[in-house]
This record gives sequence, structure tokens and C-alpha cells, in this order.
Amino acid sequence: MTDKPTKKPGDVETTGHSWDGIEEFNNPLPRWWLWTFYATIFWGVLYTIAYPAWPLISGATPGVLGYSTRAEVAEDITRFEELNAPIEAKLEAADLTAISADAELANYTQNAGAAVFKTWCAQCHGAGAAGVQGQGYPNLLDDDWLWGGSIEDIHLTISHGIRNEEDPDARYSEMPAFGEILAEEEIAGVVQYVRQISGQEADAALATAGETVFLDNCAACHAEDGTGDRFQGAPNLTDAIWLYGGSVDDITYTVENARFGVMPSWTSRLSEAEIRAVAAYVHGLGGGE
Ligand code: HEC
Ligand code: HEC
Repeated sequence: MTDKPTKKPGDVETTGHSWDGIEEFNNPLPRWWLWTFYATIFWGVLYTIAYPAWPLISGATPGVLGYSTRAEVAEDITRFEELNAPIEAKLEAADLTAISADAELANYTQNAGAAVFKTWCAQCHGAGAAGVQGQGYPNLLDDDWLWGGSIEDIHLTISHGIRNEEDPDARYSEMPAFGEILAEEEIAGVVQYVRQISGQEADAALATAGETVFLDNCAACHAEDGTGDRFQGAPNLTDAIWLYGGSVDDITYTVENARFGVMPSWTSRLSEAEIRAVAAYVHGLGGGE
């Protein structure tokens, strides 16, 4: 069966393996390959000595060069902070209303403010700042403001937050829970009245009765015409923009239980320059006044 090729002198040695008559040559590895192979081993050993490499119970061997990505990042941060120090000093000294007119500051606050927003605000207000409807996180892109849309108002809101317990200067107001104050039919009426003034389908008879309830109980904060009061952060109820939803169920829940939207204070977490940057950024988003 096997007709083995006859070996001539000078032929390459075979390993003696043979598959279906195909023999395996026993060629030596090329020199260049072998030396490259040894070099990589040598390099690997040196590398693990020089750089952090072998895992230990906590951390890793530090390496004799003392290199650390963490230290590198820290250095980068210090370098950027030094680079930004002059413009941040200028930003802190500037009049809030003058920021948008100063090309250098406007450009800086756009970028730095967007970065602050992505890190600290997007989880509640959304990456695009459009808020989360129905959960009380307001849209910051529109010109509907609870507490005011001037740069000073926005700066104050961000600095101290809203209804938080950490900052005594936080904006504060509290809508009463009317479930314990008003009768069921009064609530049903005022809910229909709110539906009506917000331009939604409403039961006309209930809404008429609800108007009196509104003027007696709600107008002090939401204003007689329902357009709200920024001094108390009481939302405009006549627009179609809802923090917590405009369905009969949502409004009934709001009136019976009241809501208590909380925003953290940022003075203790962000620098004044960062707060100013993000205030200018939010102000520039579209709805700023
Ligand atoms: C934990 C959630 C949360 C975070 C984080 C947060 N906010 Fe808010 N923010 C809220 C809530 C809730 C309100 C509305 C409170 C209310 O009902 O008055 C609000 C309101 C605001 C308002 C007022 C809007 C208006 O109509 O007057 C501004 C401006 C604002 N936030 C900006 C920011 C910025 C800038 C950041 C990041 C530095 C931020 N917020 C981070 C929850 C948050
Ligand atoms: C003491 C002031 C105050 C009074 C009185 C008051 N509200 Fe409010 N109302 C507020 C505030 C402040 C908010 C915003 C709450 C928040 O953001 O957490 C609010 C929110 C609402 C909302 C939610 C709006 C939205 O966008 O989702 C509705 C609806 C509402 N009020 C209706 C009423 C009605 C109806 C009455 C009277 C029965 C009333 N309020 C009385 C202060 C008041």
C-alpha cells in the first residue's frame, strides 16, 4: 500500500510521521524567528518587572518604574486645572448677565457647562435636558420656568437646589395635600377645572363648581388665572406642560397627595466656576430669559 518516496542524500530529515503518504519534514526553525521569539520572552519579563503587572491579593506588583495610570490621570487633571484657572477666575468675577456677551466666556461655558451637565444633571433632567415627563423632572429646554429663567434665577436654583434639607438657602414651597382638606366632590370639581384651563377635555358642570374651589384654595399659589407663581415655584397650570401629568388620574393624585420635587444643592459639590458654567449652559439651551 505505501509507496514511500525514496530518500536521497541531502533531503530534509522527516519526523517519521506519515499520513496517507504525506511526510512531515523536520526543518529547523528559521533563525530570525527563533531570536524574535526569545526577544519577546525577554521583553515580557522586563515589562513585568518595570510596570505594574502581577496581581496580588489587593492591587498588583507596582513595577520598578513607579508608573501608574492613576497618577497620569491626576497629572492631566492638574495640568488642565492650571490651564483653566485664568478663564475660571474671569468667569467667577464676571457679571452673570455679561457671560453670554463675552465670546471667550460664552465658548468656555458652553463646553465646560455641557460637561458638568452630563456628569451631574443628566440623570434627572435627561442627557438632552428635556426632563422626564410625569416624574417631576422639568424640561430645561422650553421657556416654561417654575422658578424663573433668567441667568440669575437659574444660577440661584442650581447653587442651592429646591426643597432639599442640606441647604438652608434652597428654594422652598409646599403644596398642601388636599386629600385631607377638601371633600371628594370638591376635588373632582377642581380637577375638571384644571383640565379645562389647560385646554383639555373636561366635564363643564364639575369644572364650574371647581372654579370656586380653585379660587378659594389654589389661586394663592397658582394665581387666579392659573398661570402660576415663580416666587413659590408654583407651576403654570394653563399650559400643556406637566411635571407630573395632566390626565384626570395624575391631577387627582397631585391634588390629593401633593408633590414635593427635590433638587440637590450644588454649592458643596461644584465650584462657583462650574455652577456658573452650567447655569450659562442651561440658560443658553433655548428657553433662557
Ligand atoms: C436628583 C435629581 C436632580 C438632579 C441631579 C438635578 N436636578 Fe435640577 N431639578 C430637579 C427637580 C425635581 C426639579 C424641579 C423641582 C420643583 O418641582 O420645583 C429641578 C429643577 C431644576 C431647575 C429649575 C427649572 C425651572 O423651571 O425653574 C433648574 C434650572 C435645574 N433643575 C437645573 C439643574 C442642573 C443644572 C443640575 C446639575 C448641576 C440639576 N438640575 C440636577 C431634580 C434634579
Ligand atoms: C402653597 C402653594 C400651593 C397651593 C395652595 C396649591 N398648589 Fe398646586 N403646586 C404648588 C407647587 C409648589 C407645585 C409644584 C410641586 C412640585 O414641583 O413638587 C404645585 C403643583 C401642582 C400641580 C402639578 C402640575 C404639573 O405640572 O404636574 C397641580 C395639578 C396643582 N399643583 C394643582 C393645584 C390645585 C388644584 C390646588 C388647589 C386645590 C393647588 N395646586 C394648590 C403649590 C401650591
